[in-house]
Formats: sequence, structure tokens, C-alpha cells
Amino acid sequence: MTKWDFWGEKQFAEVYENIYIRALTEDWFGIVFGIVKEIKGGKILDIGCGEGHTTKQILDRLEYDYSCDLLEPNKKALSYAKTFLSPENNIGKLFTAPLSKLKTDEKYDYIFTSHTNYYWASDEKSYQEQLLKLTDLLKKKGKLLILTLPEESDHYNIAIKQVYPKFNYSEYISDFYKKQGFSVKTKRYKMRMYVGDILSGKINFDLKNYYRFIHNTNTLPTATEVKKFLANIIKHQRNNYLDFKDDLIIITKK
Ligand SMILES: C[S@@+](CC[C@H](N)C(=O)[O-])C[C@H]1O[C@@H](n2cnc3c(N)ncnc32)[C@H](O)[C@@H]1O
Repeated sequence: MTKWDFWGEKQFAEVYENIYIRALTEDWFGIVFGIVKEIKGGKILDIGCGEGHTTKQILDRLEYDYSCDLLEPNKKALSYAKTFLSPENNIGKLFTAPLSKLKTDEKYDYIFTSHTNYYWASDEKSYQEQLLKLTDLLKKKGKLLILTLPEESDHYNIAIKQVYPKFNYSEYISDFYKKQGFSVKTKRYKMRMYVGDILSGKINFDLKNYYRFIHNTNTLPTATEVKKFLANIIKHQRNNYLDFKDDLIIITKK
């Protein structure tokens, strides 16, 4: 099975491939095209690039000259991303650090981050500091693109416990920046996940792995938890698909 080393301290074999198997490619590329449309070249920074898969999907489609710096706390993932991206993409500086520890005098035309905000901080104050840090890294008229889940995502609907604090919801982020006086636009995308295999299977192997993915845990669920989780999936699926939805929050410095 494919192993996705997204977290240095948590290398979950089997778990992270869930998302790649289930995600509807057409929906995901709708999001990628949406991000590409917002970026007009110049100096770019990708926050939490992982192994650079999303980075490449975006950079490969840019119509303008660019140089893209990469920030990623996982050293191994960043090294992989550099090797993977450098032959075909214009990669600049590499920062092996979490966002909170980034130290640089660089200013960017565009900063993007795809599904990383959940890991920035566990307390609201430190989370807000990082939201402000991102806009401080922008040039005048620079643009920050944050891709994250809205409160009504089926990812959150099917979870049997709250995994990430509410300040991770896209609505919180857009309200925060609006209050700070930034210009904020949110584009809502569909992000459907196939669960027909889970709903038809007699053995709960995939269901249990999906539970681990949704709850960001390596621990397998108890029988009661499995039952509750399955009931939530059944309730929220439509024609064997959940819709995680994805919000692209576009923050512009005036
Ligand atoms: C779900 S993966 C997303 C990877 C990539 N952006 C993508 O869309 O495919 C989350 C990434 O955030 C990174 N990450 C974790 N904590 C972070 C932090 N404090 N600051 C920046 N990135 C972080 C992880 O190492 C991981 O690569």
C-alpha cells in the first residue's frame, strides 16, 4: 500500500491514501484551476507543500513567470518536493519550519496554502498570530489564498467528535481578515468523496481506516464508534458520495 508521509511524527500507512482513492479527480482539478486563475506570477510561497503534489498541479499551469519558495516542517517531505519539482518548476528558497517559526525578510506577490491550517496551532491566539503573519509576508497588493473546509463540510458532519477547533473553519478565517480590514472573497467548490465501497462492504476494514483519516488518529475505533461513524456516513451521503466542499479564501492586501 502507498505510504503518505505527511506528518513526520505520524506516518500512517493505508490512511492517507483514502483521500486519493475517494476524491473525485474532476472536483479536485476544479479547485486547482480556481487557484491557478488567481495567481499572476511573481514571487510565490507555498505554505505546507508536503511532497509538492498540489504545488506541481498549480505551478505547471501558471501562464506567468514565477519563482516559488516552499515552506514545509517535515524535512523529508520538503526534500522530496525539491527533487520532484525542481526539474520542471522554478523553485526558489526552501524553509524547513512550521509557519510559526518562519523567519524571513522576503515579501510575496502570492502565498497559497492547501489544507494546512488545521496543524498551525491548538490555541486561538497563536492561530490568529499566524493568520497575521501570512498577510505580513505579502507585498502591497499581494494576495493570500487559503484552501480549507467550511463548517458545513461532510468531513466535519461525519466525524463523531470535534477534531479541529472551530477557528479552522473557513468562515472564521474570512471573518477574521474582514475585521482586520482586508478585502476577502470566498469561492466555494464541490469536493466529492466516494463511499460506495464502504457502504456495500461486509468487512469494516475500509470504514475503520476512513475513521482514522477523518479523526486524524492512528487508533482504531471501538465497535460503538464504528456504528456511530457509519450512521453519520449513511445520513450525509448522496448517491454514494459525501461532499467535503472546499472554500478558497482570497485575501488581498489593500
Ligand atoms: C494535508 S497535508 C497538505 C499538503 C499539501 N499542501 C497538499 O495540499 O497536498 C498538510 C501539510 O501541512 C504541513 N504542516 C503541518 N504543520 C504545519 C505548520 N505548522 N506550518 C506549515 N505547514 C504545516 C504538513 O507537514 C503537511 O505537509
